[in-house]
Amino acid sequence: MIMHATGSALVLRPLVLSFAHPRRFAGCKVLCSATVETKQRVVPQTNDLLSPYKLKDFQLEHRIVLAPLTRCRAIGSVPQPAAQEYYRQHTTKGGLLIAEATCISTEGHGYPQTPGIYTQDQIEAWRPVMDAVHEAGGVFFLQLWHCGRASHPDFQPGGALPLAPSALSIGPDWKVYTPSGKEEAYVVPQAIDQQKIAEIVQQYADGARNAIAAGFDGVEIHGANGYIIDQFLKTGSNHRTDEYGGPIENRARFAMEVTRAVAEAVGPERTAIRLSPFTTFLDAIDEDPVALGSYMAEQLNPLDLAYLHMVEPRVPSGATEGDYDSSASLKPFREIYKGTFMVAGGFDRELGIEAIRDGSADLVAYGRLFLANPDLPERFALDAPLNRYDRSTFYTFDQVKGYLDYPFLDQVDPDKAKELAALAA
Ligand SMILES: Cc1cc2nc3c(=O)[nH]c(=O)nc-3n(C[C@H](O)[C@H](O)[C@H](O)COP(=O)(O)O)c2cc1C
Repeated sequence: MIMHATGSALVLRPLVLSFAHPRRFAGCKVLCSATVETKQRVVPQTNDLLSPYKLKDFQLEHRIVLAPLTRCRAIGSVPQPAAQEYYRQHTTKGGLLIAEATCISTEGHGYPQTPGIYTQDQIEAWRPVMDAVHEAGGVFFLQLWHCGRASHPDFQPGGALPLAPSALSIGPDWKVYTPSGKEEAYVVPQAIDQQKIAEIVQQYADGARNAIAAGFDGVEIHGANGYIIDQFLKTGSNHRTDEYGGPIENRARFAMEVTRAVAEAVGPERTAIRLSPFTTFLDAIDEDPVALGSYMAEQLNPLDLAYLHMVEPRVPSGATEGDYDSSASLKPFREIYKGTFMVAGGFDRELGIEAIRDGSADLVAYGRLFLANPDLPERFALDAPLNRYDRSTFYTFDQVKGYLDYPFLDQVDPDKAKELAALAA
């Protein structure tokens, strides 16, 4: 068996390769935790992005955050052993990670092989993932997810229609991948009544409690990118005529009820929320995103949450590139919001350093670059070259390819790795 040092995290090659077939996972579990040795990776503080930050009770050693990234590797909605290695690879001492969007109920699912946090099996499976991150010195928040109308009857109990604020379908430009992997058009969802709204609010609170029971340090409510909370928030997807629709304060009611319920369940210092007023992903379009984001920032202020996480307008369609209004900015929200402000979307090293230096953010979340560079903080410390991400493997179910096999710096540039070790010593 060949042991390979990746940075200072040790990865056992033959073990990793044995993850290639999901059916073989069960047998790997004991071996996995028994043989992978974790040494905490300390990132040298060579620039503003790598300066420490106090996030409520957590002492972060740098400002580079792993953005929530759906990976579709949770077979049967249960995190697999490979997730332990994946998140461990992305952990540095005092680094903050946000785990992939994780459903709070069966009805919340809308993508194949995405994890949940509503059964005992799921909670048990998250625990060793959590332990791996803690051993490596990281702080770990779980993103709580309900897809709402961005789902399909094949995901729903009894083949029911997906749940939504209004019976308005996502348009033909978008496709849903059913559990069997078929690409289909989105259906017209069912508009939920107030009893169901109350039930979903409760599911968020239960999901948050379960996440803490699994050992997570906190939760981030997914209020972005066209899923159920964003569907309620935006004028294009919410045509309700009751107190959950119409004026901004009504459209925001569901988001605020969820946030208060979660904060009450696990404490505001362990609660965060992600919003994307400008993003038009999955047809979640608002006629006045600045007013919407400003209203939310104001309403969230008194809750004193762990952080508010907002997606830059330059990411108009969630994970994809496209046209956007370059005059739009998160600045008004940063000015209104009094707590920790995290930004995400299209940041590279220089833009991240600038955002911290000019005060436009406290923390910067990286998606695609971090996905492809598990040692991104170390690479940013050295201004080292980056691995390119491979979009074709973002959402495959493979437990290794595109998931555990992006190389660390010492595998691509041993000289830079030596420089890093000297700096970190
Ligand atoms: C593969 C992939 C999966 C993603 N999954 C999620 C998710 O689970 N939750 C979420 O809020 N955003 C998700 N996003 C959006 C990212 O968190 C991030 O906002 C986006 O990639 C833009 O940041 P970047 O330019 O640093 O990649 C995903 C993006 C990608 C590329």
